[in-house]
Amino acid sequence: MSKTPWLPLIEQQLKENPKSTTYAFSTLSEEGNPKVRFVIHRGITPNALLLTTTDTRMSKPKHISHSPTVEIAWWIEATNVQFRITGKAVSIPTPSSSSIQEAIKTLGVDGLEEGSEKWWEDKRKELWGGVSGHLRAGFGRPTPGKKLDEVEGSDKWPETIPSESDKPDEQKTIDAAYDHFAIIAIAPEAVEYLELKPIPNRRTQWKRKDGGEWEETKVAP
Ligand SMILES: Cc1cc2nc3c(=O)[nH]c(=O)nc-3n(C[C@H](O)[C@H](O)[C@H](O)COP(=O)(O)O)c2cc1C
Repeated sequence: MSKTPWLPLIEQQLKENPKSTTYAFSTLSEEGNPKVRFVIHRGITPNALLLTTTDTRMSKPKHISHSPTVEIAWWIEATNVQFRITGKAVSIPTPSSSSIQEAIKTLGVDGLEEGSEKWWEDKRKELWGGVSGHLRAGFGRPTPGKKLDEVEGSDKWPETIPSESDKPDEQKTIDAAYDHFAIIAIAPEAVEYLELKPIPNRRTQWKRKDGGEWEETKVAP
């Protein structure tokens, strides 16, 4: 069996359905309540961590630092398959604001390619360059979730910003937005693959064992 048996299945699904990049991402609030929302899949690292991004001021980073176990549900409509992935997540903001070493330990990638602060800052920069200017601008706007009548007029917020600029004023705006941009990395511990096209349907589960190998179980759908 391959080192990460479920990974080629996700890769194949994404190859066939490159637009199916939205999944439901569930965390636990500080009060212990489940919270779920959609996020965009932004990539898979060399050692099979799933990546998405967020604003450091949203709830996800707080939830994860309090309770790192998360679950995602990813339905690929065209092929009618679902991945349910449970794992440990960390948020990786600007290096000056947190200890990336702790995140690396939580993800279990110490000594691996993703095991350095530089790797993560390079990745954060790459992802920042890859999102739309409209999305980037959101990171410079008032704190998400704040009451609208407590923030400055929305006509003053830039609609779009580039990833970098040679104009000092514009670069200042970009730096402020980039400071709020964080990666969320998920280290899967259990994966379930549900195939709804074949009759009878098929459901396959993998669980990561202590040594890092994956144990496969086929279950009744
Ligand atoms: C299709 C879709 C994609 C989204 N992608 C993201 C994303 O990649 N990252 C993100 O932080 N929020 C994304 N959102 C917004 C979140 O669902 C959510 O509203 C927001 O992040 C605030 O959530 P939180 O305060 O619980 O963290 C997306 C929403 C939709 C509908």
